[in-house]
Amino acid sequence: GMFPQLDSGSQRLIVVANRLPVSAYKDRSGRWQLQVSAGGLVSALMGVGNFQTKWIGWPGVYIEAGPERDELTAALHSEGYSPVYLDQKTCDLHYNGFCNSVLWQLFHYVPLNIDSKLSETRMLQFQWGAHQLANKIFADVVLQHYQDGDIVWVQDYHLMLLPAILKEHKPRMKVGFFLHTPFPSSEIYRTLPVREELLRSVLKADLIGFHTYDYARHFVSACTRILGLEGTPSGVEDNGSLTRVAAFPIGIDPDRFTEALEMPEVKANIAQLLNRYAGRKVMLGVDRLDMIKGIPQKLLAFEKFLEEHPEWRDKVLLVQIAVPSRTDVPEYQRLRSMVHEVVGRINGQYGTLTHVPIYHLDRQLSFNELVALYAITDVALVTSLRDGMNLVSYEYVACQRDNAGVLILSEFAGAAQSLGAGAILVNPWNINDLSQAIEYALMMSDHGEACYKALRPHNDVGWSPLYERHTWADTFISELNDTHVEAELRTKN
Ligand code: G6P
Repeated sequence: GMFPQLDSGSQRLIVVANRLPVSAYKDRSGRWQLQVSAGGLVSALMGVGNFQTKWIGWPGVYIEAGPERDELTAALHSEGYSPVYLDQKTCDLHYNGFCNSVLWQLFHYVPLNIDSKLSETRMLQFQWGAHQLANKIFADVVLQHYQDGDIVWVQDYHLMLLPAILKEHKPRMKVGFFLHTPFPSSEIYRTLPVREELLRSVLKADLIGFHTYDYARHFVSACTRILGLEGTPSGVEDNGSLTRVAAFPIGIDPDRFTEALEMPEVKANIAQLLNRYAGRKVMLGVDRLDMIKGIPQKLLAFEKFLEEHPEWRDKVLLVQIAVPSRTDVPEYQRLRSMVHEVVGRINGQYGTLTHVPIYHLDRQLSFNELVALYAITDVALVTSLRDGMNLVSYEYVACQRDNAGVLILSEFAGAAQSLGAGAILVNPWNINDLSQAIEYALMMSDHGEACYKALRPHNDVGWSPLYERHTWADTFISELNDTHVEAELRTKN
């Protein structure tokens, strides 16, 4: 399948993430179907390295114990996935509440707020309780599958309490932790009421990884300022025991994209789109519908560009793919209405009987459709207000061949640290600047080969291994193995 189990001789790896790489849903005939989950974490870990991999995570649905659930469990097991089931109330408070209304926001520099729930002063307390419980339930499943010598790699902000629980049961377990979001400045992190509990648990891991050096640095200063521990160049020290902290920038699997470009279905798709959009420049945004992606900012800049450049009005279109995400969380519902309103306004104002400036889709595309779209796009717009890495920017670049695609990239995306040199970097809050960047990018995209070369994270030989996903996973895991050996030696002495 998509997430291959590798040869049995290799090392066993247990990947634990809140969400499995596939999410379950029921089709019209009431049968379980599995769909590839959205988001950077899944793209990142798909088919990771030379390990015998077991995935543990939430399948994305609530379902009571019983024959139906057994059916789903069996379907997941056959693909190498072990589901963690949470009841609806726990999941709502843990996932929608603590993870996505509190941690996700704070880690992306959105301050805690107290407006809507003022009457429910104990809300955070309930959410925290559910969060602890959820982590406990995840830990139970990990412990069921764990064998001595396994590597356990815990992913992301949902599971920061896991390292402590796991080590408490199995002090010699090799535990890695990776955060896929930014880790914010300690000045914002310290507002979190449970700031110490999370840090202390994560520090129980042997190795903690981040996408950029800045996030690692912020984490270390949170540990020194809030816990009073000592930060060293290689991590955080507590009473002589060291937790390694380092940056491991993630990449993609470029071959998956370049190979897809050769497929007849994708080629046909490309031809169709080129024909459909003939005579116009195509700009593209591909984002989960999330406030961190800066979709309103992108739309406002496009509106301003159309307003100031009448000559471009019927010569350019923006395709915005807004993949629905966390649809039960009120902030996400409000964002959706706002985006729809702005899209409607722009199309109403600048559309004609034969031309619509924005094609807005509220859905996930198939992989082949996405590759075709990347391939024909003249200018891609990544306008994140904060973003752990942002792999859409890498994917777009991987799909540029003879097409002279240009990337406009927010300086607040982790990817700006690696792709920055080949992209037009912008502050998405500066609508004027962003609108000018659009004009400049559209002109650049006419100049062909020369700039396309500058935009690729590769030399003439090929894509730089630095930007490949397997390098990321391999480096993290070999470093984890080394770190663990050192720690074992220390405890023996
Ligand atoms: C981001 C997070 C992931 C998450 C993904 C999709 O990439 O870092 O942990 O899985 O968004 O969000 P969801 O809430 O649907 O899992």
